[in-house]
Amino acid sequence: MNTQTTLTLETAQEKFTERFKVSAKMTEDNRKAIPGGYSRTTFNFGPHAIYAREGKGAYIETVDGHRLLDLNNNFTVNILGHSHEALQEAITAALPTGISFGNPVEEERRLADLLIDRMPSIELVRFTCSATEAAMGAVRIARAYTGKTKIAKFEGGYHGFSDTLSVSGHVHPDHDHGPDDAPKSTPESGGIPQSVVNDVVVLPQNDIEDSAKILRENATDLACLIMELESGAGGVITLDTDFVKELRELTQELGIVLIFDETITLRAGYHGLQGEMNVAPDMTVMGKIIGGGFPLGAIGGSGEIMRVLEDGRANISGTHHGHKLSLVAGIACMEALTEEILDDLNAKAERIMSEVNAWAKERDLPFTVFGYGFSHLGYAYLKDVGLPLKNHRHHLTHIDGEKTQTVSLELANRGFFPVHRGEFSLSTPMTDEDIDSFIETLKAIVTEIG
Ligand SMILES: Cc1ncc(COP(=O)(O)O)c(C=O)c1O
Repeated sequence: MNTQTTLTLETAQEKFTERFKVSAKMTEDNRKAIPGGYSRTTFNFGPHAIYAREGKGAYIETVDGHRLLDLNNNFTVNILGHSHEALQEAITAALPTGISFGNPVEEERRLADLLIDRMPSIELVRFTCSATEAAMGAVRIARAYTGKTKIAKFEGGYHGFSDTLSVSGHVHPDHDHGPDDAPKSTPESGGIPQSVVNDVVVLPQNDIEDSAKILRENATDLACLIMELESGAGGVITLDTDFVKELRELTQELGIVLIFDETITLRAGYHGLQGEMNVAPDMTVMGKIIGGGFPLGAIGGSGEIMRVLEDGRANISGTHHGHKLSLVAGIACMEALTEEILDDLNAKAERIMSEVNAWAKERDLPFTVFGYGFSHLGYAYLKDVGLPLKNHRHHLTHIDGEKTQTVSLELANRGFFPVHRGEFSLSTPMTDEDIDSFIETLKAIVTEIG
């Protein structure tokens, strides 16, 4: 084992600052007009964002003049990469026919059918502009359907930035998040009323005994349980299939609507991750890939529940809901995502995970690539070889944040653009050579860090 440490956060950061100085300057200048310099703090890649000039296929070109393999893909949206031909053709054909209408357009039904055909648990679909809105809408529908107020979610679960769902998405080393077996509901931001937080019950991931206890204690007040089967923002924690199945049975018994947030995990397979796990929720939240790069979210569910939007028990409505261009792009994207294409993407991801992990194991290095095994994965330096990542709290206790950040910065320095927190996703234009070069670069970086 090579124990000599040649690559540190400091050296990676110095190189990054030099290579991305145009982006740094733009961030600073833009703060005069936009708080933080841009409209999403998640654009931050360490010290500042990397500004994109254009995207083609699997690559982006930055304002600093670097070509990077796009492993971020707008946080898993761009499953077809950039400037996909079928998508461009569909949008170009639609543009001259009008953009925005106070009328429904026929594409709405076509995309609804595409989603219903893929997802056996979904009978009816409503479109929104984002998954944040879809998750908000799903919660409202569940509340209207059950007549109950409280909601349950997991610590480390992310469902967009609405007040209700911005609770206990992340743990922070300086905050009191309560004991492991009974996480305390904690707001993610200032500006969220305590009255809202009080209506959110928080469960520990992959712990059936404690999750069941909390659900049973609150069952008479709980409208829904919303969950990601594999988390994104909360650090690529996969819920065990048996755990998910037990929650399916329990929520049914207790009259709690079960909502799977498949905003990221829809790319796991033709029927989403629920299909891979063979568990059917009552409702599904979707986003990211379903808009083909345009803003689009969707709520899917059983007819019985979704009819509350028809019979006056609930209302959700937005000026841009059912927006033509998002639907057109979404149709082109979902039609391109055949079972074979998704299998190929997942095989590439599986290869990265198995090759890197086998290599690290041989050398006794505490670096790991992890996830359920589809085309969205996490990577991390662990504090020790073999420490588990079974729940969101393990990120604090088991991950070496400094070394993981070093990997991210150095990947950018060497021509790759992952998600800075230690995550990546694949897109269909990526070649075997792209994958080889990512694997080899990861190994080289980890060897240098030690
Ligand atoms: C699982 C999940 N749900 C909901 C959202 C919110 O989606 P959006 O940012 O499109 O509103 C995200 C975004 O990353 C997500 O990962």
